[in-house]
Amino acid sequence: MRIGIISDLHIDRYNNSVENIHLYEDALVEEIQNRQIDMLLIAGDISNSYELTMDFIHTISKESGIEIKFVPGNHDLWQSDLTKNTEEILQRYADQSECLVRQPYIINDDWAIVGHTGWYDYSYASGRFSYERLSRRAYYGGTWQDKEHVDWSYSDDIMSKNFADDVRDDLAGLEGRKIILVTHIVTNTNFRVPMPHRLFDYYNAFIGTSDFDEIYDDYDIRYSIMGHVHFRHSLTEGSITYICPCLGYKREWRTDDIRTEMGNSMYVIEI
Ligand SMILES: [Fe+2]
Repeated sequence: MRIGIISDLHIDRYNNSVENIHLYEDALVEEIQNRQIDMLLIAGDISNSYELTMDFIHTISKESGIEIKFVPGNHDLWQSDLTKNTEEILQRYADQSECLVRQPYIINDDWAIVGHTGWYDYSYASGRFSYERLSRRAYYGGTWQDKEHVDWSYSDDIMSKNFADDVRDDLAGLEGRKIILVTHIVTNTNFRVPMPHRLFDYYNAFIGTSDFDEIYDDYDIRYSIMGHVHFRHSLTEGSITYICPCLGYKREWRTDDIRTEMGNSMYVIEI
């Protein structure tokens, strides 16, 4: 079985016109067909709205004819006006059959997929900032945008723990299977922005979490798919391969060609 993985498509970053979104849809469907993929996993940040994200998933699934599974990223959870508690939006995603949150997918007797957005716990920042300083989520004249668009019931570090507990609950029912873990937030410090760094000594606080460290010790995770940092990078440590297959923003691309970039960011695992 060939499983395609990709993340951080940000289809509405510059322009949410139907024509622009078609470019992303066409390029992704073409890549799925060219690489002969049987299933696609998306590690979050498809768009900044629930409707756009779900429409995109339904279109890709219909046009490619393959199953799509995803976790919402922080951007998928955004709202412009903060009228809803963000748990409500997460639950709307979790109620969809394509969403992996609290809904593990059993591939066969040997393999299963577990996924969650995850959340950052500030532990990836430089030690020179206090918890109180990091929790302000503003530095060097900039504000971490989740502060404006995400409203959880609890602090970021508590949400991180809660979501890691959700993943543990999912894994408890899958003993004996090899696991593909999908998170949006980074769960391995090698994927934070290298420090010292003028901005990311601070902003790495919002990139990853340490709450999955023990999960890696306790369960047979073979692949860990992550998004959020917009890297395209993979790393094997022991029996675990960590992969960050981010398409990222157009300004981060090396070429102007969406097909080239889609092809370079998508990674295929064979099980
Ligand atoms: Fe992103």
